[in-house]
Amino acid sequence: MKILFVCLGNICRSPLAEGLFIHHVKKYGLEDEIFADSCGTGNWHAGELPDPRMRKTAEKNGIILNHKARQITENDFKEFDYILVMDHQNLKDVLRLTGATSDKVKLVSEFHDNYKNDIVPDPYFGDQKGFDDVFDMLNLITEKLVHHIQLNR
Ligand code: 4NP
Repeated sequence: MKILFVCLGNICRSPLAEGLFIHHVKKYGLEDEIFADSCGTGNWHAGELPDPRMRKTAEKNGIILNHKARQITENDFKEFDYILVMDHQNLKDVLRLTGATSDKVKLVSEFHDNYKNDIVPDPYFGDQKGFDDVFDMLNLITEKLVHHIQLNR
């Protein structure tokens, strides 16, 4: 099972989602069955580590983020089983950039009943609370995503 998390810049939300998801995957002993990656719809930050504010927020909660940003490609659409986006603009951009029409592209919030149809807000232009809130939200959602995969394999 291959999961791709997508946001705009691939330096805040999606690398955090990837790091948290892998953390939960390992906690449930599923690391041999599940592969995860992340990317952005834009290429402005390609090659960069996650934003220092995002890395710090993750690190204080025991999660190390060392993903290097990259832009989504058409091949990603073929390769991954789920392409999970943070907001509606990401959804539109993924469909445009990959030519996808498939239901494998979803809002990541779909996997948690308390967040269904919510967007994961972009913390980039905000304050520390935005980063903490995104951490809490993605922590809960990615754990539910592991449960979903476990139940449906
Ligand atoms: P992300 O956040 O999509 O969660 O990685 C952003 C990062 C950078 C920019 C926007 C959003 N930017 O405009 O550079």
